[in-house]
Amino acid sequence: MTKEYILITGVAGLLGSRMADWIIENKSDQFTVVGIDNLFGGYIENVHPDVIFYREELATANLKQIFDKYNFKYVFHFAAYAAEGLSPFMRKFNYSNNILSTVNIVNECIMHDVKRFVYTSSMGVYGHPVNNNRFDEKDECHPIDPYGVSKYACEMDIQIAGEQHGLDWCIIRPHNVYGVKQNIWDKYRNVLGIWMVNILKNEPMSIYGDGEQQRAFTEMSDILVPLWNAATFPSASKQIINLGGINAYTINETARTLCNITGYDNIEYKEPRHEVKLAIPTYQKSIDILGFEHKTNLKEGLKNMWEWAKKQPKRPQYKWDNYEITKNIYSYWK
Ligand SMILES: NC(=O)c1ccc[n+]([C@@H]2O[C@H](COP(=O)([O-])OP(=O)(O)OC[C@H]3O[C@@H](n4cnc5c(N)ncnc54)[C@H](O)[C@@H]3O)[C@@H](O)[C@H]2O)c1
Repeated sequence: MTKEYILITGVAGLLGSRMADWIIENKSDQFTVVGIDNLFGGYIENVHPDVIFYREELATANLKQIFDKYNFKYVFHFAAYAAEGLSPFMRKFNYSNNILSTVNIVNECIMHDVKRFVYTSSMGVYGHPVNNNRFDEKDECHPIDPYGVSKYACEMDIQIAGEQHGLDWCIIRPHNVYGVKQNIWDKYRNVLGIWMVNILKNEPMSIYGDGEQQRAFTEMSDILVPLWNAATFPSASKQIINLGGINAYTINETARTLCNITGYDNIEYKEPRHEVKLAIPTYQKSIDILGFEHKTNLKEGLKNMWEWAKKQPKRPQYKWDNYEITKNIYSYWK
């Protein structure tokens, strides 16, 4: 049987590399994975050796040749710089990196009749919850930071491509995904990874504000099958779907869970950030359409990730050296 090709952008990052591993393990009789990444936020060591890898800057690359060559059936577009809290201080980078990359890929998907385009948006599109409830796919979106705006702009562009050019799509809004292969060395994103590096370096674990913000966390393994179903199930066509952990935890509870696992107990409270207090989504649609099951509880997921984190090389922590905006920047990022 001739194999078909799947494109994963952001293949060196958490979602991309783990999705590639899953497809290679479970579907390699039918599909070959092609991956693109500029290695800005992910690591080449994450990329499975069976992936046909291209190091490209997606916002500016001419992708026609790659699309002509492989005639992709499905495209998973995961590449983005997902540093929500930092985005107000590097607005231009945020918009050009996240929006232009998406538009570039969408253009090629339209021209090459890709069967379905799966895009990972974010909880960041919702802004503050309506009536203090869970974020629901039917809610109006009012993002409160440039990252959320860029994700929402991409969602709208993809829907327009669907209406006008017949592109089939599924938009996933994941929430706080964590797990093995996550970038834990970037001080601006991925709170669980930041804490693990804090612990490994014997520094205090930082909490911004009073720690009573509530979040839902998602273990990466739990969303692999649903992401695959987002590309392949007819019922996922042109749907926007929240995806991930169903339980709400305060940041304080989450930090205490990690302290219990690691035996570490050094937390420092720092200046609050401009962020929403409550970010907890509904999940029924992900169960009904994508067959999502919440299998891994936070404690178990953190234990697995911590075991992995301890074995990682001691990479330097990423520090942004030229903020576009320095006004109102938090003291800990100066
Ligand atoms: N992890 C989460 O909690 C979470 C939650 C909601 C949404 N998302 C979205 O899911 C997607 C994947 O997230 P992740 O956690 O795997 O992030 P990640 O940083 O681990 O992976 C993203 C990858 O994209 C690459 N990349 C970024 N910009 C690029 C560009 N211009 N050209 C080429 N490659 C580029 C990076 O080098 C990185 O390897 C992102 O779109 C993110 O916004 C993630």
